[in-house]
Amino acid sequence: MPTFSNRLGKLSPYPFVEISRIIAEKRAAGADVVTFGIGDPDIPTPEPIIDRLLTASQDPPNHRYPETDGLPEMRRAIAHWYRQRFDVDLDPDTEVLPLIGAKEGIGHAAFCFLDPGDVALVPDPAYPVYAVGTMFAGAASHVMPLHHRNGWLPEYDAIPDDIARAAKVMWLNYPNNPTSAVASQEDLDTALRYCREHDIAMLHDAAYSEVGYDGYRAGSIMQIDGAKDISLEFHSLSKTYNMTGWRMGMAVGNADMIKALFQIKANLDSGIPQAIQEMSIAALTGPQDCIDDNVTTYTWRRDRVIQALTRMGLPVDVPRASLYVWAPVPAGFTSAEFAARLLEETDIVVTPGSSYGQYGEGYIRLSLTTPDERVETGCQRLESWTIPSPRS
Ligand SMILES: Cc1ncc(COP(=O)(O)O)c(C=O)c1O
Repeated sequence: MPTFSNRLGKLSPYPFVEISRIIAEKRAAGADVVTFGIGDPDIPTPEPIIDRLLTASQDPPNHRYPETDGLPEMRRAIAHWYRQRFDVDLDPDTEVLPLIGAKEGIGHAAFCFLDPGDVALVPDPAYPVYAVGTMFAGAASHVMPLHHRNGWLPEYDAIPDDIARAAKVMWLNYPNNPTSAVASQEDLDTALRYCREHDIAMLHDAAYSEVGYDGYRAGSIMQIDGAKDISLEFHSLSKTYNMTGWRMGMAVGNADMIKALFQIKANLDSGIPQAIQEMSIAALTGPQDCIDDNVTTYTWRRDRVIQALTRMGLPVDVPRASLYVWAPVPAGFTSAEFAARLLEETDIVVTPGSSYGQYGEGYIRLSLTTPDERVETGCQRLESWTIPSPRS
């Protein structure tokens, strides 16, 4: 019988693996499940991007091992996109690193900065990979609670002095998953100043920067003076160009930090398939109208879901960005109990806020990546459902 590592024993089932299992079980039993679960765009990757993939797949050099740091044109396309979108200059050879999706880079980043016994400052609720990467590196997460009363931003004054001295990295993510909160440039500047003062590397995950509503456009941490001295920003093509299935992301920022991530990756993976890089170049340098088209679609869904939740008596903040609606559960329910009752009684899947950490308790997250007609079906079901009493 093999024996497994202690770290394996510390892992909870990844939330969406568990949810996928439940959905498959329900569907096998004949249920018409509507899922507001994972944030995975249902809208196809735009055709010109797919066309580039098809051509690139037939080019024999693309059948061979890619370089860890990607094609030079790939890095230049990322720098070009940052210049167009954020007016930020990046050196494509030293300040840019393509990733096999942001998740891969986020997980591996922990190995660049953390040794056993070190401390990472990790928000809660949050995308689970920040804490999991920290644990894999043998380090400890110090939780920075995010609260509604603070606009889901950390309270830096609440971090104890000894933790601030010990911390090696701080993770932030705006626009935020799961709360859909946004951070102003001033908020990001406050975080950067705190990190600089305490010699902490700042790691900002901006995977949702291109999903902004009602004219909102997220900024980049790289627009702030001095950010490049101490920070990396992680990005993803997944949500921007409906490319979750193709696996393409990037890290940009401080050249030494980029080099460290490159070194870790060079020892663990063999880069991104070149045909995927070519389609990603097409995405980043081609027409950007799919971004507005996506936002138009998500805006209708956001408004429809908010209407349904409001009719149910659940008071929700209207998201200015991200793919999610973050809604409080009725009094007396835990997040998991409410999500379970919804699934049991309405065949609707939502994610319990507690999957994102203890401070996500009391909320559910609804993803807007479900086709319009399914959103409508789900919303009608929600509106005609009488919220039951909690089971004691
Ligand atoms: C906050 C956040 N960061 C990163 C990712 C992962 O992005 P990718 O698909 O590029 O790995 C996700 C995916 O849901 C996310 O929610």
